[in-house]
Amino acid sequence: MHNSSRLADPGIIPDPYPVYAELAEREPVHWCDGLNAWAVLRYADCAGALTDSRLTAERMEEVLRVKFDGRSVPPGNIYHRFTKNVMMYTDPPLHDSLRRSTHPAFSRAAHDHYGEVIRRVTADLVATVPRRATEIDAVSELALRLPVRTSVHAFGVPEEDLDFVVPRVNALMTYWSGPRDQPMEFDRLLEHLTELHTYARELIRGGRGRVLPDTVIARLAAAQEDAEATFEQTTHQLVLLLIALYAPTTPGSASSGMLSFARNQQQIGRFLSERACADNAVNEVVRYNASNQFTWRVAKEDLEIGGVRIEKGRCVALFLGAANRDHRVFPRPDAFDLGRANSGRNLSFGSGPHSCLGRQIAGLQLKWFFTALFARFPKIRLAGEPEWHRNLEFRSLRFLPLGLG
Ligand code: HEM
Repeated sequence: MHNSSRLADPGIIPDPYPVYAELAEREPVHWCDGLNAWAVLRYADCAGALTDSRLTAERMEEVLRVKFDGRSVPPGNIYHRFTKNVMMYTDPPLHDSLRRSTHPAFSRAAHDHYGEVIRRVTADLVATVPRRATEIDAVSELALRLPVRTSVHAFGVPEEDLDFVVPRVNALMTYWSGPRDQPMEFDRLLEHLTELHTYARELIRGGRGRVLPDTVIARLAAAQEDAEATFEQTTHQLVLLLIALYAPTTPGSASSGMLSFARNQQQIGRFLSERACADNAVNEVVRYNASNQFTWRVAKEDLEIGGVRIEKGRCVALFLGAANRDHRVFPRPDAFDLGRANSGRNLSFGSGPHSCLGRQIAGLQLKWFFTALFARFPKIRLAGEPEWHRNLEFRSLRFLPLGLG
């Protein structure tokens, strides 16, 4: 089963879509040595797999095996305690009860509040661009700062703790993608994970700096006494939320969105003049470029996807970014078009039981960010060559030179 799939070639990262399109026609379920997984490229197959109970989300033992060949850790180790107790890597029924336990922080009323806060935060962020600036790196000056500002005001991370939390999450994120070369020693990873747990525990107990009221953390802490989850489980979910919050996904979508608009300036005009287009902008931005290009499952039994037999124990990489460009679902898939009727069917936030818990918060950040950006800079344009990080799984820009018009 050895091959040299182009999916593992970092050269495709700036524009993987022609490779996806070709594979989706020729070999839509495609073995990729570099990922040690079956890559699934068509929309129907990805959407089906995301709700298929024969595929388990419990994949972190497999990731450990592949990344640190021969390394094992005892059952009580923080690695297992975390990965076996967070919603992202567990199956129902445990998954469902862990997810339900966070509901007080993700209710409708809570999101109404976050929306107001995020609207203010994004306006303040765009206002930080100096008046005389004609050109900026939109990644470092805007996109990377978006989740950090949100984390303080809507999430409740005390501002003085940012220097502690953000670098640790960034370091962990180098691991927290699927099987791949690992730049960080395993012991260091465990250390960071332990430190984040100690931190999360103190936050919930109120033993750190001031957590702003009505934020995600304040709501989780207040609900802790009645929660069906144990204190330990709530701590694990909070660590997962912190990782997801500072992951490259939100900056990846904000920056790829700016790039899409800069390359399609007529769409900025539509954003500003057509209400329906503005309302559809986030859907189309994340459809056009998924910042989590693929996610993982493991086959619990032998099964077939798209007519291909997948053996029990094999990893499956579901290419959400390829599914979003499937012409069977999205006509003219390579056009960035705010008027598209079905952009909302994108799989960028997953689908089924594990669909993104932070989808609304991410959507609010992107919606209010583009609203504030175009209110002040309606003529952004590309001012040089954008550069991408060498990571297809979490695909995000490293550098985006933007002219402000
Ligand atoms: C544009 C930004 C984001 C993108 C593209 C994104 C993408 C995703 C995807 C694709 C999944 C499903 C993974 C799978 O099925 O294997 C997911 C799950 C999840 N996301 Fe996000 N995410 C984003 C932002 C956030 C934020 C801001 C948070 C936290 C507030 C968050 C929290 C979570 C959690 C907790 C899960 C696991 C849900 C479960 O397993 O039940 N995400 N996300």
